[in-house]
Amino acid sequence: MKIDLPGNVCVVGLQWGDEGKGKIVNLLTDPGGPAGLFDLVVRYSGGANAGHSVVIGKEKFAMHLVPSGILSPTATAVIANGVVLDPQVVLEEIKTLKSRNVKVAENLKISSKAHVVFPYHKLQDQLSEKQLAGNSLGTTCRGIGPCYADKAYRSYGIRLGELYDKKHFAEKLQRIVADKNKIFQALYGAAELNWKEIYDQFCNYADELKPYVCDTAELLHRNLHQGKRIMFEGAQGALLDLDHGTYPYVTSSNSGPCGLSAGTGVPAALVHSYLGIIKAYTTRVGAGPFPTELKNDIGEGIRVRGKEYGTTTGRPRRTGWFDAVAVKYSIMIGGINSLAVMLLDVLSGLDPIKIAVQYKVDGKPLDFFPTDSHILEKVEIVYEEIPGWTEDITAAKEQNQLPTGAVKYLRRLQELLNCPIKLASVGPERDQTVAIKI
Ligand code: GDP
Ligand code: IMO
Ligand code: MG
Repeated sequence: MKIDLPGNVCVVGLQWGDEGKGKIVNLLTDPGGPAGLFDLVVRYSGGANAGHSVVIGKEKFAMHLVPSGILSPTATAVIANGVVLDPQVVLEEIKTLKSRNVKVAENLKISSKAHVVFPYHKLQDQLSEKQLAGNSLGTTCRGIGPCYADKAYRSYGIRLGELYDKKHFAEKLQRIVADKNKIFQALYGAAELNWKEIYDQFCNYADELKPYVCDTAELLHRNLHQGKRIMFEGAQGALLDLDHGTYPYVTSSNSGPCGLSAGTGVPAALVHSYLGIIKAYTTRVGAGPFPTELKNDIGEGIRVRGKEYGTTTGRPRRTGWFDAVAVKYSIMIGGINSLAVMLLDVLSGLDPIKIAVQYKVDGKPLDFFPTDSHILEKVEIVYEEIPGWTEDITAAKEQNQLPTGAVKYLRRLQELLNCPIKLASVGPERDQTVAIKI
């Protein structure tokens, strides 16, 4: 199989996450991959809220912070400055990967500018979600929001590189934990955290992480100068982007392609292909508007067939029909120039299949995707119905092995989205991927 994805490539989810980015990044970064060799694979945003699954035969990997591209023996995997780093999670991942003979020591690099997720970030995420009760965001409680908030606030943010100046780190952490204790006591009546315990623990983490830490912007530019090829592995999805997603039910970073430059130091002009990953239907974990949600047997059937339970939190994912209005918006904002349609096999047996093609508010058509959640909550949907197919498609290797109904569905998506579909995925395994030309 060959697919045309010239130059440096950004792989990014176009819905609310979990589109199958891990599978595609792993497929494309395999040394014999269908789009040629990649020398580096870079995570530019998010943190341990991400869960990217890769299935290779009987082996299953769930990556949270380490890019899925680490599984390629020839690629350098980079956790860039835009990521918020939970040292405990990344060290656990490193240990697991090493025990499975993945070349981590040689191939992983972590930015000294990545902000560190501390226990008080995770605690605040949990306490705040609990206190919001019915109004909670449904976060992953991985401390993501509080850590990015401290990064933007500046006087509370700590970058990984600061942990290596022990005196500076001790003074700063002591001051921050004293403030956090006052704030958490006042807001949540929480018990005090002991700064010294955190300090000792994080000094140990810093020592363990030291061999991986560097200035990744410098590393990336040195490699670009040498003509090396880079893949950028998006986390979350474009509709969870802090600025362009369905605010406030979003994550706290720019998870769409617009986060790439700030999150790595690589100018957007040096990225040539933007591959958007979409499910053949839609899922969402956590709270927030979901216009095409199916709270019925069809939705439950999709959840069961697609094994739609979160890779990070195990929560059941909400399921619904494909939303062409939302994805068209993500394509526009992200400058997406090709698509991979995932989990097509899950739709086998559904007839008809519906696609959302237009939103209306108070009976009037909208000409733009409304990202404000209070508007999105009240849109009415105009659906188009497409005849389904009954065949099991999980063994398809080429487009001509797909039933006519499945090809027609892909063609209609391509027409509606006005963007070429290059891949369709019919199962979690690497070889369950079909090159598409329609
Ligand atoms: P990511 O966060 O975008 O990497 O996606 P996740 O790994 O969280 O969720 C995607 C899930 O779908 C994983 O369990 C994958 O193994 C699985 N998957 C990926 N592609 C396919 C496919 O084409 N068919 C089926 N049935 N499962 C798939
Ligand atoms: P991957 O990379 C799906 C969702 C959470 C919640 C919202 C905010 O695997 O696609 P946060 O913990 O980030 O503050 O939660 O964002 N969310 C994801 N949903 N896939 C993800 O990552 C997600 N990362 C965050 O469920 O609704
Ligand atoms: Mg996921």
